Amino acid sequence: MKEWSRAERYRKIEDVPMEEYEALLHSVKKAKWRQKFHVQPVSGLLNDPNGLIQKGDTYHIFFQWFPLGAVHGLKYWYHVSSKNLIEFKYEGPANIPDTAWDSHGAYSGSAFFHEEEMHIFYTGNHRSKDWERTPYQIHGVFNEITGVVEEKQSIIEGPHTGYTEHYRDPKVWSHGNDFYMIVGAQTVGQRGCVVLYHSKDLKEWCFHAEIKTGLDDFGYMWECPDMFNLDGHNVLLFSPQGIANTVDYLNVYQSGYIVGQFDYESAVMDHDTFHLIDYGYDFYAPQTFENSSGERILIGWMGLPETGYPSDEDEWAHCLTIPRKISIENGRLIQEPIPQLMEYRKKHKSRREGSKIIDLPEVYDLEVKIMTTDDFTLCLLDSGDESFEIAYSSDRSEIEIRRRFNHEVDCRYPEYRSTVLEEPIHHLRAIVDVSSVELFINYGKYVFTSRVFSEASTHDISVHNISLDNVNIYELEVG
Ligand code: FRU
Repeated sequence: MKEWSRAERYRKIEDVPMEEYEALLHSVKKAKWRQKFHVQPVSGLLNDPNGLIQKGDTYHIFFQWFPLGAVHGLKYWYHVSSKNLIEFKYEGPANIPDTAWDSHGAYSGSAFFHEEEMHIFYTGNHRSKDWERTPYQIHGVFNEITGVVEEKQSIIEGPHTGYTEHYRDPKVWSHGNDFYMIVGAQTVGQRGCVVLYHSKDLKEWCFHAEIKTGLDDFGYMWECPDMFNLDGHNVLLFSPQGIANTVDYLNVYQSGYIVGQFDYESAVMDHDTFHLIDYGYDFYAPQTFENSSGERILIGWMGLPETGYPSDEDEWAHCLTIPRKISIENGRLIQEPIPQLMEYRKKHKSRREGSKIIDLPEVYDLEVKIMTTDDFTLCLLDSGDESFEIAYSSDRSEIEIRRRFNHEVDCRYPEYRSTVLEEPIHHLRAIVDVSSVELFINYGKYVFTSRVFSEASTHDISVHNISLDNVNIYELEVG
């Protein structure tokens, strides 16, 4: 793999000769494992979803983007738009790191619609000559005509007293007549947390307080916080870094949530247990927004920091998850693929061969009614020596996935991912794109999101203890 120097990582796309960039675009377009309907970078690396918003009949989604290769470097926001969150138009770079405040990257942030304008809040990553970092929280306005974030102003300079340079990812919302912003932070004592700011006009912001949760010793940094009301509850999502790796936390970093009641005055969040949002191999830094029908939609980064992926050598990495409609049931987040995906289903006539289904389409949506209370296994992308195995153990009431491919994701604990279910399993749905599997158990009660890099050109499904009569496969015809 190519070693990237600092100068190469901080090279601006504007300084790259057109022919050089076009050659990169061309080779990425032809690269292996390109997805069919997930949002992916046209070149380089995608990470967090940013600035999710709907205006009129158009959704705008932005994401963290380093254009020139599969590494983290000078970050831009890339913009895609959509009418239905299934088909996307790739619009181009929209937040260009072009001020002193964001000289070393336009980091993550959110969008907020107010008085006909799409306000953008994000972190400007600035570094001095000695490479010392100052984070600035920046306000700008997204101009649909020029396609870029304009009128940038620094609204919060550096961290508040008592916090370190790890101070980023503002999310803004309104409550009553006021505006609130949360920022992911690290205390000088190296404790991860979220801080709350308050504003009357979206321009002047005052530090209000650190949000008090029961999670006092829970990692050294909380990234990408999000807070919203859902079904009568306050929900705080965040991505903590530095939680000890236990059987529950096998990924390098986690993304989770707490549900409860939040008191704005005291900034106390009275909450239940921390739960992971997703139990799969590749999920991080999700963000939510409310659409014009009042539905809350969640999109995550289908990838992780500090983890090597097989597509890296082709100069591209990662994609976003399929947008999920979320709700709260018994204190737990329920996530279902957005309903409009159903419109792209085409009944597929696959053939059976013993306990196998063969002749599958490349991209599909699979549903299985689970009629047994015994152990069962379902293997997707089964080519003999490679497979994505989903196994249920009735003794432990546990779902476990195993990714067995010759091209491995370079993660610390590759063997398996699992979770214990608090209820009987009765339904399973898997959305399979060229290089990903998103698995929804019991209609979104438990979700496992994973990238898969298969070598084989044809794949089967094989089952053990599941009747093939209960398996329905729909080809997904997108675009
Ligand atoms: C999370 C994150 C954010 C930051 C961004 C930079 O993946 O580290 O905290 O704003 O990525 O790309």
